[in-house]
Amino acid sequence: MARRKYVVGNWKMNGVSASIAEAQAIFAAADGHPAVEVAICPPFTLIGAMVAAARGAPVGGQDCHSAASGAFTGSIAAPMLADIGASLVIVGHSERREGFGESDADVRAKAEAALAAGLSVILCVGEPREVRESGGAIEFVLTQVAGSVPANVDPARFAIAYEPIWAIGTGLVPTIDDVAAMHGAIRRALSSYGAETAQAVRILYGGSVNGENAAELLGVGDVDGALVGGASLTAAKFVPIVEAAAGL
Ligand code: PGA
Repeated sequence: MARRKYVVGNWKMNGVSASIAEAQAIFAAADGHPAVEVAICPPFTLIGAMVAAARGAPVGGQDCHSAASGAFTGSIAAPMLADIGASLVIVGHSERREGFGESDADVRAKAEAALAAGLSVILCVGEPREVRESGGAIEFVLTQVAGSVPANVDPARFAIAYEPIWAIGTGLVPTIDDVAAMHGAIRRALSSYGAETAQAVRILYGGSVNGENAAELLGVGDVDGALVGGASLTAAKFVPIVEAAAGL
C-alpha cells in the first residue's frame, strides 16, 4: 500500500489571529493537491479559529499532557484538543524533550493519551549534533523509538518525524544518504510491530525543509513527508513544499 505524502506545518510559538489568513491560503492551495495530506499545528490559542477556517483539513496541537484532566496548571489535555476540533498532535519534539526535560517514557505516555483521545500522533525523534558527529545517530534514535513509541500503533493515526536537532532552524540538513539510512533503520525497527504496520507507518523528515530542498528530501524512498517549522509560517514558503510532495 502506497503511503500518502504528509506535509505538516509546526508553527511553534508563532502566530496571532491575523495569521489565520495565511493558513487559509495554505489549505486552499493544498486542496489542489489531494495526493498530499497537509496539516498545520498552530499554537493552542489558534486551534479553534484555524479549525473553523480549515474546512475539514487537519489542524493539530504541538504537545499535550499525558493525563486526561487534573491539576496541571498551564497544560492542555489530549481530549481538550479533540474537543475543539484538532485531529492530530505532535509529541516529543526536541524543543519539548530538551527544553522541558521530557523523557522517552513521558513522550510515550503523551502519545498513548493522544491516541486514546482519538487524535493522530506525530512522534518526534532526533539526535543532537555531538551524537551525529560521534557516529552514534542511528543507535541514539532507535533507542528513542524503542522508548517512546506506544505498544499499539495504528498506522492510520501514527507517524514518526525524524528531526536531527542540529538541523532544526539552522539551514543545515543531513546528506541524502544519511536521511535514507536513518529512515530505513527506523522502518526496520518498526518491524517489531509486524511487517504490515512497519510498511504503513509514515516517517517524516524535519529540520530546515524548504522549497528548494523538499523535492530531494521527499524523493528518498522511506521519507513519507515533512515536518516543517520556519517555512510553514507563510503560504509563499509552505506551498512550494506541498507542491514538491505532490510532484513525487
Ligand atoms: P525548521 O523546524 O523547519 O524551522 O527547521 C522544524 C521543526 O522543528 O519541526
